[in-house]
Amino acid sequence: MLNIRHHIGLGELTTFGCSALAEHAVVVTNFQDLQEAVAFAHDKGLAMRVLGSGSNVLLTGDVSGLVIINHMHQRAECVDRRDVHIRFGSGENWHDAVTWTVHKGWSGMENLALIPGTVGAAPMQNIGAYGVEQASIFEELEAFHFDSGEIRKYVAADCDFGYRTSVFKRELRDKVMITSVTYRLSLDPKLVTSYRDVQEELAAMSIIEPTTLDIYNAVVSVRTRKLPDPRIIGNAGSFFMNPVITSEQASQLLEKHPTIPNYPQADGTVKVAAGWLIEQCGWKGARHGSCGVHDRQALVLVNHGGAVGSEVLELAENIQRSVADTFGITLVREVNVW
Ligand code: EPU
Repeated sequence: MLNIRHHIGLGELTTFGCSALAEHAVVVTNFQDLQEAVAFAHDKGLAMRVLGSGSNVLLTGDVSGLVIINHMHQRAECVDRRDVHIRFGSGENWHDAVTWTVHKGWSGMENLALIPGTVGAAPMQNIGAYGVEQASIFEELEAFHFDSGEIRKYVAADCDFGYRTSVFKRELRDKVMITSVTYRLSLDPKLVTSYRDVQEELAAMSIIEPTTLDIYNAVVSVRTRKLPDPRIIGNAGSFFMNPVITSEQASQLLEKHPTIPNYPQADGTVKVAAGWLIEQCGWKGARHGSCGVHDRQALVLVNHGGAVGSEVLELAENIQRSVADTFGITLVREVNVW
């Protein structure tokens, strides 16, 4: 029997920690729970939203309808020659999943260590870090469609993965819940060490020929040093995406600001570091009421305690305005605003 609760606090269930109430909320641990929860919402004509571990959500007001809290756990592996196919329940904690695979000796997820969130949120956002995106190890997922009650399988070609986006973040937002994700890892390490921070960390650890575990340890160490721990200070990782601009825009910008960190993309566009733009505008470490900009990574907004979502949004808008005025670049939010 499902335990549907009413008017419950969601703040503690998000890493930003801004308070808000859910009109109705329910924890689902398996497929049957999910079917019952969706039937309840249909019956009452309620909109549905899925909350994983709330690591990419900013609450700006009470949430009407039914919030489905995903606790669907599963890990099933299948080894096929040198490949390992692992199916995770979408409610699995991402970092625990990464740690488990690394300790099993499987390679592919190590660069994505310590990213907060659930496995189900990973394809939605197409999470990425230190030169790797989850799309590069993704095999398939299953998603439950709220309207039809069907479970559909999606292979990579169906997901339209892009930089921090997918069909689940756009067209299928709030229409489906991802129930499982399968990744293809390898028994043969295929290490990505191109990211400067990782290289520097490996050098500091005096490691010349790194293993999968070394990369994992290096990433954990860089992230721990640079990014605020959401258990200590509320945040949702990068608040904005790194803007992707045309090569002409990039040339003009580089003429005026030659030190801007920039990453030419395969399609000719250029990604520029939003953290650098924000820092240049003087925001790094700035306070705005109870929230502010992290003092070691200007792309991360933080809740110093008791911040309300609208205050964080106000700060974000001030930052967007100042980056637009100074550099002519529009910053787009990465965080989902509820
Ligand atoms: N930088 C600054 N000032 C800052 C922050 C960054 O000058 O305050 C410069 C850095 O010196 C560096 C460049 O900007 O030259 C890039 O910085 P960093 O390596 O920290 O990465 P990022 O581009 O700011 C992205 C992801 C992170 C991911 C890291 C590492 C996005 C939106 N963010 O950040 O992902 O961990 O790369 O791969 O793409 C997240 O999505 O929540 C997230 C944390």
